[in-house]
Amino acid sequence: MEHAAEDRPGTLTALAAAEEACTRCPLYRDATQAVPGEGARHAPLMLVGEQPGDKEDIAGHPFVGPAGSLLDRALADAGIDRETTFVTNAVKHFKHENRGKRRLHKRPNASEIDHCRWWLDIERDIVRPRVVVALGATALRSLLGRTVSVSSLRRTVQTMDDQARLVATVHPSSLLRVRDRDDKAAKYADFVEDLTRAAKLICER
Ligand code: URA
Repeated sequence: MEHAAEDRPGTLTALAAAEEACTRCPLYRDATQAVPGEGARHAPLMLVGEQPGDKEDIAGHPFVGPAGSLLDRALADAGIDRETTFVTNAVKHFKHENRGKRRLHKRPNASEIDHCRWWLDIERDIVRPRVVVALGATALRSLLGRTVSVSSLRRTVQTMDDQARLVATVHPSSLLRVRDRDDKAAKYADFVEDLTRAAKLICER
């Protein structure tokens, strides 16, 4: 995606305003508002989700719904204080379809992810995290600029172009969908392990 360098906001406040005015892809039309990333200005750890959900779209804040509650619990279990992190999404507007009174989440497509990458790149430039956690495949595509499965990178540590370390894990929503109790507990433990690995990386250099 081509953009002029002078269009790049230099602060998180300016960035949030620019995201709110964004019409680069059609998703802004049906969303309540853009949901900017938020957290510590120079957070060493950035967590990147997919896109705001129904609750986030209304509240204007990332990860405040059910997936956010699970993420908060996992962060606490990994010894990470969410206040010290920067939490954001690959796509800033809620993509959904209306079914009666319900708004059903729809996955952003490659074009929507790639258009919104501009904003995530600027967030990374401003915050400069040492470690970035991709929560699921959409975040991974945005961060790497190509489609890569989470399973192929899970338990590895990648180094990105700006030298930040990249840890890939599942999206917390995927854990909410697991029915079997043992399976759920095992998958949750793996998720916490990934977050713990990310936290340890912060201290590594
Ligand atoms: N899922 C996401 O990926 N991000 C949110 O902010 C909420 C749910």
